[in-house]
Amino acid sequence: MKKQGNRLLVGIVMGSDSDLEVMREATLSLEACGITYEMTVASAHRSPEKARKYAESAVARGLEVIIAGAGGAAHLAGVLASQTVVPVIGVPIPSTSLGGLDSLLSMVQMPGGIPVATMAIGRPGAKNAGLMAAQMLSLKYPEIRDKLRQYRDKMRGDVEKKDEAIKKVRK
Ligand code: RP5
Repeated sequence: MKKQGNRLLVGIVMGSDSDLEVMREATLSLEACGITYEMTVASAHRSPEKARKYAESAVARGLEVIIAGAGGAAHLAGVLASQTVVPVIGVPIPSTSLGGLDSLLSMVQMPGGIPVATMAIGRPGAKNAGLMAAQMLSLKYPEIRDKLRQYRDKMRGDVEKKDEAIKKVRK
């Protein structure tokens, strides 16, 4: 559990501990931006009461963004979103034989009125979920905006290094 001052800004929720390997990417993005977070396992189907209570108490606990990862019939993000006005970012986990397309469609096809900001399937989606949360929070926290700029600068620098390296190989 990472804390910023006394407050946790982001709640990462996953349907099962088997989602952790993918969801770890979201924690790396948050850490790169110095953002405090907590992690919880709660399932829309296996522990619906826990999921409901988590979302219901999110505002009172000071959470400003929720990231929800789930696989298969992935209803977790939508169920959480239905119980809170805290923005929910969804990560479709490729945990079944359908490779995550099932999770993506379950998550992204929300009815009008209850949005879930759905990312790509798997690791890139989890990575971007952390960055999307950072971008949302950067509207309020200038220090997070600075970290995001540094993150982008480093990414640009890495591309340049790759470009130089590939040119050397071709010579
Ligand atoms: C979903 O079922 C979870 O989010 C996970 O992706 C999938 C499989 O869960 P386990 O059977 O590994 O616990 O609810």
